[in-house]
Amino acid sequence: MAEHIEMKKTTPQEFVLALLGGLFAPLIAIILIIVYVMGIQGGHSQAQTPADEQAVLERIRPIGVALAIDPKAPRVERTGEQVYNEVCAACHASGALGAPKYKDAAAWGKRIAQGYDTLLTHAIKGFRKMPARGGDPELTDLEVARAMVYMTNAAGAKFEAVLKREPQPSAEVLARGQAVYAQTCARCHDTGLTGAQRLSDVQAWQALIQQGKEYLYKAAIEGTLGGPPRGGDDRLGDAEVKAAVDYMVEEAKQAIAAATPVKQAGAR
Ligand code: HEC
Ligand code: HEC
Repeated sequence: MAEHIEMKKTTPQEFVLALLGGLFAPLIAIILIIVYVMGIQGGHSQAQTPADEQAVLERIRPIGVALAIDPKAPRVERTGEQVYNEVCAACHASGALGAPKYKDAAAWGKRIAQGYDTLLTHAIKGFRKMPARGGDPELTDLEVARAMVYMTNAAGAKFEAVLKREPQPSAEVLARGQAVYAQTCARCHDTGLTGAQRLSDVQAWQALIQQGKEYLYKAAIEGTLGGPPRGGDDRLGDAEVKAAVDYMVEEAKQAIAAATPVKQAGAR
């Protein structure tokens, strides 16, 4: 009878299996957990599909362009200062052919008085000895406008580089923009998180406003270096993002207006 209740003796093979099981079971569990967590993160990762990868490439494009000039790279609109230096300075720095010189307020005064639209038309189509687009047909209208504004503002004008006169956004659009801003954009543009231009940053917004609304809309919708597309919220439609930009520009303009007398008083 006693033999029946006696436990079976463990063979050496069973002992080794039990030992391995004891050692490896936790390890396998840990590996499974890691694989699981990586699976979740993979699902959230930005660069999973080719389309997403393309979007990431688009976003980091300016870095590549700055490092190497790739003839196949998509065209990036240059700033007014860049276009001025590369094209317009050839005449407007020296006054060649009788061109009004950069920063020469006297030479520019009467011309500026013609108004933005006339100046822009002359810069794009040419005017007497001033060649169309400064002689560079590759320049886009916006690039010419920016260069023109860069020059005229240095001589006392207060223009914005816009192609079409932008209608003042309605109160309704601004209210919608304010709501979108508060919900999505404020966390970076109120705080300056990751280098976002704070609405109170007068200098940054003066420069941004000069780029024109079309540029700002595009930057906000498609994203920029550090600025996520649609503020990181894919559910936002173009109209909502644009309304938020309208609101931001209005707020920034008020900050600029409020800061201007202070800046003059503070100038030593
Ligand atoms: C080849 C020389 C040359 C280049 C390059 C040049 N300009 Fe001019 N620009 C002139 C001359 C000359 C005038 C004066 C024309 C006149 O009033 O007879 C002028 C005048 C202007 C005016 C004033 C027009 C007016 O109505 O009084 C603007 C605006 C202007 N240029 C913009 C530009 C911009 C922007 C660029 C660069 C994209 C540029 N120019 C490049 C020669 C040049
Ligand atoms: C996660 C932070 C973050 C959020 C959220 C965010 N932005 Fe930005 N945004 C940035 C940063 C950073 C920049 C500066 C990028 C640069 O220097 O090019 C920027 C720049 C911009 C610019 C200027 C473009 C330029 O050339 O710099 C606009 C316009 C803009 N954001 C609009 C918006 C709008 C509209 C929203 C909300 C729908 C929003 N942003 C939400 C981080 C953010």
